[in-house]
Amino acid sequence: MVISAAPRVERLASSGIEVIPQEYVRPQEELTSIGNVFEEEKKEEGPRVPTINLKGINSEDPVEREKCKEELKKAAAGWGVMHLVNHGIPDELIERVKKAGETFFDLPIEEKEKYANDQATGKIQGYGSKLANNACGQLEWEDYFFHLVYPEDKRDLSIWPKTPTDYKEATSEYARQLRGLATTILSTLSLGLGLEAGRLEKEVGGMEEFLLQLKINYYPRCPQPELALGVEAHTDVSALTFILHNMVPGLQLFYEGKWVTAKCVPNSIIMHIGDTIEILSNGKYKSILHRGLVNKEKVRISWAVFCEPPKEKIILQPLPETVSEEEPPRYPPRTFVQHIEHKLFRRTQDLHSNRISK
Ligand SMILES: [Fe+2]
Repeated sequence: MVISAAPRVERLASSGIEVIPQEYVRPQEELTSIGNVFEEEKKEEGPRVPTINLKGINSEDPVEREKCKEELKKAAAGWGVMHLVNHGIPDELIERVKKAGETFFDLPIEEKEKYANDQATGKIQGYGSKLANNACGQLEWEDYFFHLVYPEDKRDLSIWPKTPTDYKEATSEYARQLRGLATTILSTLSLGLGLEAGRLEKEVGGMEEFLLQLKINYYPRCPQPELALGVEAHTDVSALTFILHNMVPGLQLFYEGKWVTAKCVPNSIIMHIGDTIEILSNGKYKSILHRGLVNKEKVRISWAVFCEPPKEKIILQPLPETVSEEEPPRYPPRTFVQHIEHKLFRRTQDLHSNRISK
């Protein structure tokens, strides 16, 4: 089988085309829900992604501390996604991380190609674009850079961008600080389930095995944004996902049967509860369906750090304490990799039945 190199969306976007190739056009039933993201973001009515102020999470004042934890827990149970503010990671560090990623993506495509991944041979880290993995060949309007950032002994620094020179230091420090934030969040979520503070952290692999993987998503301007998606609708498989972006809107959440556009909240980190925590909590915390829109005017960049359990060492299933006669386990036991495969299988089934029903 001949596998051709992945097409770079950036190259396509800069070629001056006015009509996007068919592979990027979403199916008819999806098109009706895709609007102009700038207009959507401005809308004041309707539900809003909660903003959680973490200032009080380690407060000496027990009332303030409990209030903060209660709000976080409520957002995790009701939405499964939130804007975190006063999260403790310095703004200057976040600016350095963003600057480093932007500078890398500013390089000519030929320079970035030197870091190209090779999905066919299992080399998943590096510069990439989605390859069509189903019969209809559907593609997404984005390129990305993907690599493991924590634990530090599991990193492969040889594939990290060498330009700009601050990339390694800024990204490493950010990963270290996020790892700390993940512990704080997991401990609050554990207590919220009536478990010991360290329980969820332990269940996802602890300091040794819990993996943080960075994916910088680069969404070029799109000449027909009403026909494409930057990322198609999905739930994250991770335990937690932390996202930064360049203040260009794009993220939409499927909440109570409607697509809600996330506002751009200055100095915040977006946090998703992923499938892993949904499973361990037997559905008490939610992994929300979401997608990414693109636009005609501005390049959007986001930095997603997926915090994941090890692929095969741990069996994920509802923790016994979250299960009762009234609330039987909603998920069968699966390793992380089995869970991913199950989702792919289910998706293929859906696509297949859609095609038949047309
Ligand atoms: Fe996602």
